[in-house]
Amino acid sequence: MARDHIRFLLNDREVTLRGVGATDTLLDHLRLNARLRGTKEGCAEGDCGACTVLVGRLGPDGLRYQPVNACIRFLASCDGCHVVTVEHLRGADGGLHPVQRAMVDHHGSQCGFCTPGFIMALYALWMENPTPSEREVERALQGNLCRCTGYAPILRAALAMGAHGTSDPLMEERAQVAARLAEWADGDRVEVSNGQSRAILPADVDDLADVLDQHPDARIVAGATDVGLWVTKFLRDLPVAVFIGHLDGLRAVTETEDALHVGALVSYEDARAPLLAHFPHMARYWDRIAGWQVRAMGTLGGNIANGSPIGDTPPPFVALGARLVLRKGSTRREMPLEEFFLDYGKQDRAVGEFVETIILPKPAPGTLHAAYKLSKRRDEDISAVALGMALTVEGGTITGAKLAFGGMAATPKRAAQTEAALTGQPFTLDTLQKAAKALPQDFTPLSDMRASAEYRMRAAQNLLTRFWLEHSGEAAALEDVT
Ligand SMILES: Cc1cc2nc3c(=O)[nH]c(=O)nc-3n(C[C@H](O)[C@H](O)[C@H](O)COP(=O)(O)OP(=O)(O)OC[C@H]3O[C@@H](n4cnc5c(N)ncnc54)[C@H](O)[C@@H]3O)c2cc1C
Ligand code: FES
Ligand code: FES
Repeated sequence: MARDHIRFLLNDREVTLRGVGATDTLLDHLRLNARLRGTKEGCAEGDCGACTVLVGRLGPDGLRYQPVNACIRFLASCDGCHVVTVEHLRGADGGLHPVQRAMVDHHGSQCGFCTPGFIMALYALWMENPTPSEREVERALQGNLCRCTGYAPILRAALAMGAHGTSDPLMEERAQVAARLAEWADGDRVEVSNGQSRAILPADVDDLADVLDQHPDARIVAGATDVGLWVTKFLRDLPVAVFIGHLDGLRAVTETEDALHVGALVSYEDARAPLLAHFPHMARYWDRIAGWQVRAMGTLGGNIANGSPIGDTPPPFVALGARLVLRKGSTRREMPLEEFFLDYGKQDRAVGEFVETIILPKPAPGTLHAAYKLSKRRDEDISAVALGMALTVEGGTITGAKLAFGGMAATPKRAAQTEAALTGQPFTLDTLQKAAKALPQDFTPLSDMRASAEYRMRAAQNLLTRFWLEHSGEAAALEDVT
């Protein structure tokens, strides 16, 4: 028997809700029902951070709070969580929180519209590390936009916040909150509906397989950083949505002798440390995916399953030789990741099948790797062109080449002719530049709002020169080029 209501903690109150639809957002609940209007709505598409709140979740490693965009977080997916809004930062005496105090002292707010969102992102950072470095602050604030103050005072406030205090009531309440959430973890399937749409939260991964069997037309929702926009921007309905973000069984990263096995629900944020430990060439690339809130919500499985030609994980993962495990019922099949992308909007995924695991082989010795992202803005922007590249060089000769591009075709795609032009040739600048001339045989890119076809082709070709410069040691100066 499924539970017919969701329950969560909202600041210091317990909330139980029936009649929740699949597309009801957390932001609407906060502002319209709970009347907590400190959380703002700016863009309603996860881009500006004005709606940032913290969501605390009890996982295998205990209670953990992360910043999320309430505008694209669906309410049903908050079941069993602790939602913390800016109102909860007020001290028992009504005084300012250390993060707020720092913001006031350093003049970090003018019109104030963006301020609650900045405060919440900084609060999440302060919880993890009250004395962050400038780089850590910049990473934490990539998902927050301020149109009038300018970022320098906000940065100064962030660097000073630890000096204003390192504990707050929430830190003292943590054990109680964790105990309450643990009591609620009943392991039941949850099904709620508002009459027009239904949200199902499977009990576990096996139950997910059953739910998809029973509802073949249901839409899977993981981090909702794509699906959220279908609702808030394109006003699409989701008659039945299966929320999977809470399933710890799809959230593990395990290591074998020759590969990393990454569960489909591992977020960008959680993948960062294990991934960069094995694939350090992705460090700069990884930090240019979205902003902190979206990185905390968005999953690797979602980025692959959406089949987008401009998703950032497929190019470097295909270049690594990644494999995908898909599951339907109790049947699993495995395929090279590149074969999953059939055509624009078409993937090799059967009805009722879901992405379970991404297998990333560890790099072979002698292989040179790179991951490049070109976009209009450095931070919080979608790629115009992305490239994952792996060259095996033996005795000065290229014996293997994998180049996987995003933004150059209707799907993430390997550059077969360019790879052939590299293989068997000496590893020299001349070889890379000659091979780049084969790229027009592989791709006929489109012009769109991100880039013209000519720009895409020229920039993609130039990335081969960049690869040479970086790997031949000629270009320490490229360090800060994005
Ligand atoms: C502000 C903003 C910035 C962004 N920046 C970037 C960026 O820089 N680079 C980038 O690549 N993307 C970016 N994105 C897009 C998005 O974050 C990613 O595509 C994300 O990885 C999607 O994962 P999700 O868990 O949120 O997917 P969801 O939105 O939950 O789902 C996306 C699709 O995948 C399906 N799906 C999800 N999980 C599974 C599964 N396990 N099995 C089968 N189907 C599944 C869903 O049904 C849906 O069709 C950005 C999005 C926003 C809002
Ligand atoms: S309102 Fe802009 S990120 Fe939510
Ligand atoms: S203070 Fe006005 S938008 Fe940031």
